[in-house]
Amino acid sequence: MKPRHPQARRWPRHVPFAALCLVFLASLPGVQAAQAPARPGKAAIAAAHPLAVAAGEEVLAAGGNAFDAAVAVSAALAVVEPYASGLGGGGFWLLHVADGQRDVFIDGREVAPGAATATMYLDARGEVIKGASISGPLAAGIPGEPAALAHIAEHYGRLPLARSLAPAIRLAGEGIPVHERLQMGLRFRRPAMEASPALLEVFYPGGKPPAAGSLLRQPDLATTLHRLGREGFDGFYRGPTAAALVEGVRAAGGIWSLEDLAGYRVLEREPVRGDYRGLRLTSAPLPSAGGIGLVNMLNILAGYRLEQLEPAVRKHLLIEAMRRAYRDRSLYLGDPAFSRPPVEQLLSPFYAAGQRVSIRLDRATPSEVLAPGAAGGGTGSDTTHFSILDAEGNRVAGTLSINTWYGAAFMPPGTGVLLNNEMDDFTIKPGVANAYELLGAAANNIAPGKRMLSSMTPSFLESERGVAILGTPGGSRIITMVLLATLDWADGGDAHSMVALRRFHHQFHPDVVEYEVGAFSEAEVAALEALGHRLELGTRGYGNMNVVTWDYATGKVDAASDPRSAGEAQVY
Ligand code: GLY
Repeated sequence: MKPRHPQARRWPRHVPFAALCLVFLASLPGVQAAQAPARPGKAAIAAAHPLAVAAGEEVLAAGGNAFDAAVAVSAALAVVEPYASGLGGGGFWLLHVADGQRDVFIDGREVAPGAATATMYLDARGEVIKGASISGPLAAGIPGEPAALAHIAEHYGRLPLARSLAPAIRLAGEGIPVHERLQMGLRFRRPAMEASPALLEVFYPGGKPPAAGSLLRQPDLATTLHRLGREGFDGFYRGPTAAALVEGVRAAGGIWSLEDLAGYRVLEREPVRGDYRGLRLTSAPLPSAGGIGLVNMLNILAGYRLEQLEPAVRKHLLIEAMRRAYRDRSLYLGDPAFSRPPVEQLLSPFYAAGQRVSIRLDRATPSEVLAPGAAGGGTGSDTTHFSILDAEGNRVAGTLSINTWYGAAFMPPGTGVLLNNEMDDFTIKPGVANAYELLGAAANNIAPGKRMLSSMTPSFLESERGVAILGTPGGSRIITMVLLATLDWADGGDAHSMVALRRFHHQFHPDVVEYEVGAFSEAEVAALEALGHRLELGTRGYGNMNVVTWDYATGKVDAASDPRSAGEAQVY
């Protein structure tokens, strides 16, 4: 493995010296450089809603590239999946620019407002104020998605921003057919929505829940998108939209200022990279924990001949790798502009060799013996992911978030912008879990202008065989879902098997393995329990993965959308 990351500083204190010696025993096969043919000649889009795929297709047909299509898909998702992503939220767009074979990570994560404090969700006794980081405008960070769309269009797209936003503007103005997930989320979040008349007006037209198949119009959102298209960054972060956002937020007890909006900046970052058995991984750097966790887990697993092991032992090792990566997430990670997470060390195969030393083949490691550390499990019913390849070989893996169904459940009047509750991804109070049961340390404390730690993991996999573009929503489970899909691709799987494979997840705390029906055979359940793992069968499947692949040898471009949801995958 050849980790590369600019923010490396110090060696985590618990790395045993023996690990440094054992690295020489670890199996670390060299990586063959992937030799991509010049261009795929075909394009593909996989996303969580057919109307978003259609928006991307329209923009490709108008002469746009993958980056224009990413803008179109992102904006359309904001309209058709308002509970999962949108202009009030943020996201990460991992781009591959075919001309020059360059990868760049666009960080459009929200930031804490200037008046935010580390204790803003605690009462006078230091107790967490229930729901304060989940519902209402105080839960909302300064949005990043509109700035990211303007940035991508300006620096990477071929079409004007207004052209790429046109399908979304049309969908918002003319209406979208109400679908099941939209209704389900509305039912779930209705109590919190009561505090936002503007939001109720949109999502409960005439005071009633919208009927399945009826048209849901979002005229204010159409106007806001139109202004963004016409004026770019200033169309959202300055002028009438910004004024209405700040006025609405402050009138309802929030703390945003005009300066917060005007001061928002998109960041371009160097992606995290790692290698695993001939496969090159390019993924999300901080402020996402995704790429670091993924490379760390692959580094741990690279020391075993997984294919030669019994399935139950193989799964035991995956669980132990997950446990260790999530422990470190909670201990060390946060916005690198505010602390110095030991990134290079966490990405190092030497460090992984040290972690392997603590893994027994014949017994689960109780999380408490790996203390100190605290991370936890939770469900993810928010966020969205899309994957795009264009005919020239440009690629986008985009994972965008409105958290916990309809975010903060608050809409500043006259904007159509549903605010997110991404502030909950900060450490609200050491020792207190967030919506995903994730606990954090000081590295992820709230501070003005800081970006909250994320699990979003948009990724590229490359090998001699070809390339895969992947990612998924799912809160804290995102990173383990991308790990399982990566291992599937490494084992010869394709886009369809990657999105469909049965999932399991461990995140250090609680010390439990959550699994989907079919993830373990009866014999594996018995074997894993005998090793000491506590297993919990989930009642529903989780995740909504969207994958595009390009096979270099055959030239085949393929795409698949998660069978657990109602997304679509198209090859053009
Ligand atoms: N809101 C989910 C995440 O960023 O991980």
